Amino acid sequence: MNSLGLSIIFRMGCICAKETITVNSRKYRVREHLGEGGFSTVLLVEDVSTHKKYAIKKLVCHGPEDQQAALKEVEYYKQIKHPNVIKCIDSSCEGMADPIVNTTSEVLIVLPYYHRGTLADELEQRAKKGDYMSPGDILHIFLQICEGVKTFHEAKPQPLAHRDLKTANIVLSDDRTPIIMDLGSVAPARVQVCGTQAARNLQDLAAERCSMVYRAPELFNVESYCMVDERTDIWSLGCILYALCYFKSPFDIVHERGDSVALAVMSAHITFPENAPYSEDMQNLILSILKVNPMERPYIYSVIESIHDAIAKVEGRV
Ligand SMILES: Nc1ncnc2c1ncn2[C@@H]1O[C@H](COP(=O)(O)OP(=O)(O)O)[C@@H](O)[C@H]1O
Ligand SMILES: [Mg+2]
Repeated sequence: MNSLGLSIIFRMGCICAKETITVNSRKYRVREHLGEGGFSTVLLVEDVSTHKKYAIKKLVCHGPEDQQAALKEVEYYKQIKHPNVIKCIDSSCEGMADPIVNTTSEVLIVLPYYHRGTLADELEQRAKKGDYMSPGDILHIFLQICEGVKTFHEAKPQPLAHRDLKTANIVLSDDRTPIIMDLGSVAPARVQVCGTQAARNLQDLAAERCSMVYRAPELFNVESYCMVDERTDIWSLGCILYALCYFKSPFDIVHERGDSVALAVMSAHITFPENAPYSEDMQNLILSILKVNPMERPYIYSVIESIHDAIAKVEGRV
């Protein structure tokens, strides 16, 4: 038997054995594996007493730094409250992460379960059928994503940036409201970079935590003395708007061709597929967000204003 067969049997074995997880004395039965990232496992679970379904994100921590990062993620879920940002229902931290005695700890985050899956899943299905969304639907979905992003950028005492906005980190609710999730890369938005070491650290962090085809140009090659701000998220939003129209980030296409994503991003080489049902206005809106120079890139407020204008135009109000 091949290893895939074995792994399926192993997984089914786990599920048939009715694996349960306890978070603060509430018991959940594991139903399915929803996703596996570099830093976490996401499970579909059912509350044993209410039978309600949830998603549990499990972060295994190998050292105090891992654990601190995981607990920070939990804090961000609790801090950011907005209808377009996922909420944390419950969380727990068990064990001690100590690399010297080789022990790990586990941070569990209980989240609402969205059975429709991610925006990336939806766009993949649409791509197969060549099923383009209407400009009105695109703008309404994009506006809600931007409203969610605004709450990060307006956070007190300091603005926060999500730092990994992409279609795979947005889930869709029953009525197709987009919900931003995966707060694992969230950080204070404004960073003053002083020196080559600090620049390298930020660049490495971005390489590890922020998907390349949605990553802002200034994070590919961080300058030794510079200021990075929440407009890194605005770049990702530009890629998301492109993906809402053409199913993928403009740099996915570069990546698939085997060309350098870094070069394409830093030169903002963006092409639009022909035969798609979008006006030049939509393309100009995308290009106005995807400004290589972060100082020329709009803040979330002007992006939201532009979307309102575009909606009014599409609906024939102006
Ligand atoms: N609440 C949820 N409802 C449905 N699916 C989810 C939920 N949370 C995560 N997932 C699935 O699990 C995957 C990984 O979750 P995510 O929080 O993005 O973790 P990672 O940090 O590993 O990227 C997602 O891309 C999605 O497919
Ligand atoms: Mg993710």
